[in-house]
Amino acid sequence: MSDIKISIVIPTYQEVENIPLICEQINTSLAGEAFEIIFVDDNSQDGSYEAVSNIANQIPAQIIVRTKERGLSTAVITGIESAQGKYVVVMDCDLSHPSSAILPMIEKLESGHNDFVVGSRYIKGGSFDDDWGFFRLLNSKIATWLALPLCHIKDPMSGFFAFERQQFEACAHLAPTGYKIGLEIMVKGEFSSPGEHPIHFRDREHGESKLSLKEQLLYLRHLRRLYRFKYPITSEFAQFGLVGGTGFVIDSLIYFALQAFFGLGHNLSRAISFWPAATWNWFWNRTITFTDREKSNHLSQWLSFLATSLAGFVMNFGTYTTLTSYVPFFIDHKFIALILGVLVGMGFNFMMARIFVFKE
Ligand code: GDD
Repeated sequence: MSDIKISIVIPTYQEVENIPLICEQINTSLAGEAFEIIFVDDNSQDGSYEAVSNIANQIPAQIIVRTKERGLSTAVITGIESAQGKYVVVMDCDLSHPSSAILPMIEKLESGHNDFVVGSRYIKGGSFDDDWGFFRLLNSKIATWLALPLCHIKDPMSGFFAFERQQFEACAHLAPTGYKIGLEIMVKGEFSSPGEHPIHFRDREHGESKLSLKEQLLYLRHLRRLYRFKYPITSEFAQFGLVGGTGFVIDSLIYFALQAFFGLGHNLSRAISFWPAATWNWFWNRTITFTDREKSNHLSQWLSFLATSLAGFVMNFGTYTTLTSYVPFFIDHKFIALILGVLVGMGFNFMMARIFVFKE
C-alpha cells in the first residue's frame, strides 16, 4: 500500500509556461504532506514533457503522455487510474484553481463531512475575476442551471474537485464527453454527501483556454446522457413530450391549412392531419427518445406506432368530444379541451411506445 496521501491529477495540453508555476504553488501549499502530481498530457509539442522532467527531482511530479487519445475528460480518468494516493484532487494547470484550497478540501473528506468536494465559485466566499463579460457570465450561468437537477452543488461545472480514490471504483459506466468530468463522476459515482469549498477562480495569464464552441455543444450531449442515466423515465417522457410538441405544431398547421385552403371540415381535417404528424413523431422518437432501443424493423415499428397513435388519437379525440359536448366550461373553451385531449393521448402513447413499439 502506498504512503502517498494526495494525488493531484492535472490534464494538460500546451501548458509549458504554467507547469513550473503550478508545481511550485502545490509544493508550497502541501509542504509536509505526502503527495504526487500526475500531469496527463496529450502529446503537446511545446516542451511540457521536458518541463516536468526538469522539476521531477525536486517535486514529486510525473507526466503521462498520451499519443492515441485526446480530450480533457479521458485524460483525467487516465490520471486517476494511475494515482496512488488515498485522496485524488483534479485541477486545471492554468492556475485558475488555487492550490491553497487543496488541504481544506481534503479536510472536508477526512472529517466525513463530505465524500466529494468541489472548489466552488458560486457559494458564499467563492468568486471569480470581475472582468467576465456579460455573455461569458450568462453562458456559464445557463450551463450551470442546466446541470443543477443532476447534483446538489452550486458549481457543478467546476474542474476542481476531490474525493477518496477508493470511491472511484464505484463509478459505473463512465462515458465522459467534453469537459465536465467532475459532473460525470459526481452523477455516476455513489456519493451521498457532496459538498463545496469556496474558491477564487482566476483567469489564466499564460496560454489559451481550449474550451471551444464544439466543447460547449458536446456539453449539451453530455447533459442529455447524464439525465438519461439519473432520471431515465422522466427524461424519456420529456423528450417524448418535446417530440410530441413539434408533432402537435405540424398537426395544427396542416389542420388549419386544410380548412383555410381546401375548405375541409373540422373532423376531416383532424383525421387527415394526424398521419403526417404521427409519422413525424415516430421518426424523431426512434431517433432521439428511444435511441438505444431496437432499430431494425422499420415498417412494423412504424405500423405499430401508427396503430398505438391512432388509439391515442381516439382517446385524444374522445376526450375532446366528451368535454366539449357535456362539460359547459369546455363548450366555451374548446382550445383547453383540445390541449387536454392531446395530453391524455400523449400519456397513453408514451406508455404504449415504451412497452410495445420501441422494445428494449
Ligand atoms: N490532456 C488534455 N487534453 N488536457 C486538456 C485538453 C485536452 O484535450 N483540453 C484542455 N486540457 C487541460 C488544459 O490544459 C487545462 O489544464 C485544463 O484542461 C482546463 O482546460 P482550459 O481550456 O483551461 O479550460 P477553461 O479554463 O476554459 O475551463 C475551465 O472552466 C470550466 C468551468 O467554467 C476549466 O476549469 C474547466 O475544468 C471548468 O469546468
